[in-house]
Amino acid sequence: MVRHSVIQGESDDDDDRNDGDKPDSKQPQLPPVDPETRLDEEMRPQRLKDVVGQRKVIERLKIILDAAIKRNEPLGHLLFDGPPGLGKTTLATVLPRELGVEVQIASGPTLKAPKDLLSYLTNAGRGSVLFIDEIHRLPPAVEEFIYPAMEDFRVDITLGEGLNARTINLKLQPFTVIGATTRSGMLTAPLRDRFVHREHLDFYDLEELSEIIARNAKKLRATLTPESSREIAVRSRGTPRKANNLLYWIRDYAEHRNSADNITLEIVQSALLMKEIDELGLDHQDRRYLTALVNVFRGGPAGLQAMGHTLNISPDTLEDEVEPFLLRCGFIQRTPRGRMITVAALEHLKLTLPDDDPQQPRLF
Ligand SMILES: Nc1ncnc2c1ncn2[C@@H]1O[C@H](COP(=O)(O)OP(=O)(O)OP(=O)(O)O)[C@@H](O)[C@H]1O
Ligand SMILES: [Mg+2]
Repeated sequence: MVRHSVIQGESDDDDDRNDGDKPDSKQPQLPPVDPETRLDEEMRPQRLKDVVGQRKVIERLKIILDAAIKRNEPLGHLLFDGPPGLGKTTLATVLPRELGVEVQIASGPTLKAPKDLLSYLTNAGRGSVLFIDEIHRLPPAVEEFIYPAMEDFRVDITLGEGLNARTINLKLQPFTVIGATTRSGMLTAPLRDRFVHREHLDFYDLEELSEIIARNAKKLRATLTPESSREIAVRSRGTPRKANNLLYWIRDYAEHRNSADNITLEIVQSALLMKEIDELGLDHQDRRYLTALVNVFRGGPAGLQAMGHTLNISPDTLEDEVEPFLLRCGFIQRTPRGRMITVAALEHLKLTLPDDDPQQPRLF
């Protein structure tokens, strides 16, 4: 059973996973459900057999699950890393279901102090799973608090201050931490090393994405032709969450045209044209980035900060959300001097570099 509502209610400050975009902190205990989260929940595979792709990872997971069940021992602590939307949360929630154990869900940024983590630890039953999403955002004090919990299943609590301070060792039930992170490089080495198993999730190929799209279309009671599934897959950047989001939009678009029971390639293409997603899956923001790199910086090199200021987007967002796909496409290069456009990007956008004439007026 998911227990996050029990725990999140105890936090001093209720701003949870969707930090930043919640106007009113007097919310009920459950986190607010934004459309993307709702979509994730509807589409999320429930069992390991429903998970498509990531074959090698799944094979290894089956082995450790089987061994844990046979020995009647908790699973070793497990860390999933990889880019957003590839199935870290999905796998983290499927595993406890396969084991038939309880799961509590926490998130790095909401665990602001050791006391926030304490209730999760004391609530963790034998063999249960504590899933910590965005584990790279655990503050150092909480991180140190979790070390003995992961290693020896105990916590050290200090009561009082100064001369009167006493430390109490509290024994915990053996349990499993499943961590998920999009930035494993930001994890400290001691935390990383406490995970017995580490699995990296990679992008999906077209067959796998088409399969996910076809299955999810059925869940949405929409009918896609095989070409339509494939077209959506091509534009999904190897990412199931992107595929789901496109599918949701296409379903609405088709509904609007009264053709949700037969979503043809033509409907998919016109829906995605309207959404400004091009044939490679680049969106408006990607094209703005590339166009600025060409027109403002004459193809680069341009520093991340400078790009951020030009586009009015935070450098973190550029680095985490925009650049990875452009790098994968081979559309930009990250050099020591900054970002540079590539010939492939110029060809794709049908752009040419502005002349190097200093008299030339800038286009922006
Ligand atoms: N292997 C898969 N098979 C089928 N569907 C998948 C798979 N992986 C992910 N999905 C779909 O993609 C959605 C997003 O996946 P998930 O939430 O697990 O990603 P994530 O890696 O946790 O992303 P984030 O880093 O943003 O938290 C899920 O709701 C699910 O519908
Ligand atoms: Mg997740």
